[in-house]
Amino acid sequence: MSHFVSLKYFSSQEINEMLDLAAQMKKDPKISKSALEGKSVGLLFEKASLRTKTAFYLGAQQLGAKVIYYSPQEVKLGQREEIADVARTLSMYLDVVVVRTFSHGNIMKFSEISSIPVVNALSDLTHPSQALADILTIREIKGNLKKLKVAYIGDGNNVCNSLIYAFSILGGNLHLAIPKGYRPYRSILDEVKSYHRISGAKIKITDLVLKAVEDADVLYTDVWTSMGEEKEKGKRKKAFKNFRIDDKILSKAKEDAIVMHCLPAHRGEEITSSVIDGKSSVVFQQAENRLYTAKAILAYILKK
Ligand code: CP
Ligand code: NVA
Repeated sequence: MSHFVSLKYFSSQEINEMLDLAAQMKKDPKISKSALEGKSVGLLFEKASLRTKTAFYLGAQQLGAKVIYYSPQEVKLGQREEIADVARTLSMYLDVVVVRTFSHGNIMKFSEISSIPVVNALSDLTHPSQALADILTIREIKGNLKKLKVAYIGDGNNVCNSLIYAFSILGGNLHLAIPKGYRPYRSILDEVKSYHRISGAKIKITDLVLKAVEDADVLYTDVWTSMGEEKEKGKRKKAFKNFRIDDKILSKAKEDAIVMHCLPAHRGEEITSSVIDGKSSVVFQQAENRLYTAKAILAYILKK
C-alpha cells in the first residue's frame, strides 16, 4: 500500500510518472476515466480549502469514485475521537482518504494506523499535492526543470518545504529568500542534501530578495501567515514587509519570468495586485493543474 504524505518518499521516476499521468489526463479527459470505478474516497478536511477540496472531490468523481466530504466541524481529529480510531474506522469503509489537518504528526499517525492509502492535502509541514501541480505548471511553460532558476520569496512554510523536496529529488536551482526566524527546519535542509548528489539540485538560502530573484525564470510566493498561525499575523507582517513580489522585484528576474502563487493570495502583502494580475502571472494555470495532479495522485496510489 502506498500513501502520499510527502514527496520525500517518492523517487524522481515515480514523481515523473505521476506528472506524466497528470499531463496525459489534462490532454485527454478519457484517460484513466474508470481508474477509481467502484471505489470510495473520503475527504477529511480540518481547515478551509477551495482548490484542494475541489481538485480531489471533482477529480475522484471524474475517475468514477464515490466521494464523502467531512468538514472541519465534523471529525475533529484527536478531540472528538482519537486519530487511531478514526483511521481504523475509515479503513473499514473507504478505499482512500485525503486528509487536511494542522499537525503533520496527525497525518503520520493516521497513515501508520490506516490500512487504506492516505493522501496529505496539507499539514503545517508539507503540501505535496500543491508541489506536484507547481512542477507540472513550470514544466508546461518552461520545460526542463534542471535548467531553471526558481526564486521562492517569503515564509519557509509547508508550501516551501514541499518545493524543497520536489526540487531536491527532481533537480533544478531553488533560491529561497526568507527572513531569519522563518526559514525551513535545518533538519529538512540537511535531509535533502542526500538527494542533491543524485539529482544535481541546488538549494540556496538568503535574506536578500534581490539576490534570489536576479535572472530567475520563476518567482514564487505564498501567504505570510498560514492557516493555524493567525495569532502571529501582526508580528509576521513586520518580519516579511521586505519580502513581497512587486514590479521592482519582478523587473530583476528574467524578461520572460513567470510568477506563481499557490493561492489564496493576499494582495498588498506577499504580492502586489499589479504582479498577480499582470502578464507574468500563471497562478490560474497553476490552480487548474491542481485538478489533474490530484487525479494522477489518486489513480497512481490506488494502482500501486
Ligand atoms: N492552494 C491551496 O491548497 O488552496 P486551498 O487552500 O484553497 O485548497
Ligand atoms: N501556507 C498556506 C498554504 C495554503 C494553501 C497555509 O498553510 O495556509
